[in-house]
Amino acid sequence: MQTLDELDLYHMPMSDPAMGENPWPHFEKAREKHPWLAVWDEYGYVIHSYSAMRELFPREELRPPYADVVKELGQEGTPWGRFTEEQMIALPPREHRLLRDTFAAKFTPRFANQLRPMMRATISKLLDEWATSGKMDFEAFASHFPISVMFGLVGAPHEGIGLLRDDLEAIGLAYSFQLERFPRIQEGMVRIEEFVEDTIAERRANPTNRSEDEEDLLDLLIRVGDEGNISHQQLKDLISFFFIAGYDTSKNVLTYTMYTLLDHPDIYKRCAEDYEYCKKVIEEALRWFNPGTVTRYVDKDVEFRGVLLPKDTMLFFPLSVSGRDPVTFPDGQTFDPDRPIEPERRQIAFALGPHMCLGQYIARAQLQEAIHQIAQRIRDPKLAGEPAWRPFPGTWGLIGLPIEFTPGEAVVKETEPA
Ligand code: HEM
Repeated sequence: MQTLDELDLYHMPMSDPAMGENPWPHFEKAREKHPWLAVWDEYGYVIHSYSAMRELFPREELRPPYADVVKELGQEGTPWGRFTEEQMIALPPREHRLLRDTFAAKFTPRFANQLRPMMRATISKLLDEWATSGKMDFEAFASHFPISVMFGLVGAPHEGIGLLRDDLEAIGLAYSFQLERFPRIQEGMVRIEEFVEDTIAERRANPTNRSEDEEDLLDLLIRVGDEGNISHQQLKDLISFFFIAGYDTSKNVLTYTMYTLLDHPDIYKRCAEDYEYCKKVIEEALRWFNPGTVTRYVDKDVEFRGVLLPKDTMLFFPLSVSGRDPVTFPDGQTFDPDRPIEPERRQIAFALGPHMCLGQYIARAQLQEAIHQIAQRIRDPKLAGEPAWRPFPGTWGLIGLPIEFTPGEAVVKETEPA
C-alpha cells in the first residue's frame, strides 16, 4: 500500500481565479500524473475521477466537514455557526439518519410533480417581469428564480424576496473562507431564521387543511415533522436549509444551462415546444455542468485503490467536472440530451450516499419547468457580453450572463401534464 507522501501528484490550483474560468486543463494534467488523486496546497486532496468519486464518497469512514469549518472560521456561538453545526447535513450519523428518515420517503418524484403547477405559476410571473424588454442579465434573472419558487412552495408573500435573496447570496459565500464576509452573513442568517419562524407561525395559525395529495412543501414539512416529533428548532433549521441549499445550486445550474444552450439553438427551440424533452435536457445539463465541490474529512484511516488515506485528511470531490471525465465518458465533450442514461454512468450532481440531495426531485422539476417556459418567452437568445466566473471550490458558476433576445408569448400555461 502506498502512502500519500510517496505519490507524485498534480498540484491543483483550486482557488486560483483562472481555475474557476477554465478548470479542464488542470484535470487533464492531474490524470497524467495519477488516475484519481491530486493535491490542493496544504488543504487536502482532490479526488478527480468519476469512478473514484462514486466509490469513495459514500464510504462511512468519511464525515461531512461542516462543524469543523465553523471551528476553523471561529464562528462558534454565532447565528451562522449554530445553524451550520446543527443543520441536518452536519449531524452525527445516527441523528442525521433519524431526521432524514422522517422526511426522505416523502421527497419523491410524485411529491415534486404535485408542486409543478405552483412552480409554473411562479416562473411565469417572474418572466412577466423580466422577459419583455429584449435584454437582461440572465444570471440576475435566474437568482430570483429558486427563491421565488421556494416562496411559492411555502406560500409566503413575495414582498420579502429581494432582501432574502441578497441574504442567500451572502450566505452562499461562507465557504470562500473570507472572514470579512461574516458580519453580512450573520445578518442574513438572523433574517432568514426570523422569516422561517414567521412563516411557520402563520401556517400554524391558518392551516390550509389540504389533503396529502394537494399539500405544499410547508404543509408537508409541518405535518411530517409533527408526526415524527421533530422539534420546532429542527423544523426551522430544515426549512432554512432548504432555502440555502436550493438557492445558488439551482441558480448556477439554470444560468449555465442557458449559457450552454446559446450554442445549441436547435435544442433550445425544442425546449419551448417539447415538454418531455426538457427533462432530458436538464439531466444532460447536470452531467455537463454542476456547481458542487463537496468536502469530507477522513474519520478513520481508509485504504482505497492501494493508497492509505489517513484519519483527518481533507478530501475534495469536484462533482462539478465528474460528468466529463473522459475515462467514463469518452464522448463526454458533446452536449447531447438524447444520450442514454446508463446506471453506471449517471450524473452525480446531487452526490451519493447518506447525504444525497433531499431536494433533487424538486430541483429537477423546477429546472425543467423553468427551461420550458424560458424557451417560450426568451426567443433566439444571443450572448451580449462576456460572463465572469465564481471561484471553483464551493458553489461554482457564472457571474453575470448578459443576453439579448426576442420576447415571446407563453404557449403552454398551467394545464401542462406533471
Ligand atoms: C440543481 C440544484 C441542486 C444541486 C446541484 C444540489 C446538490 C446537492 C449536493 C451535492 C448535496 C450533498 C452535499 C454533501 O454531501 O456535502 C446536497 C444535499 C442536500 N440538498 Fe441539494 N442540491 C440542489 C438543490 C436542492 C434543493 C432545491 C433543495 C431543497 C428544496 C435541496 C436540499 C438539500 C438537502 C436538504 C441536502 C442535505 C441532505 C442530507 O444531509 O441528508 N437541494 N444537494
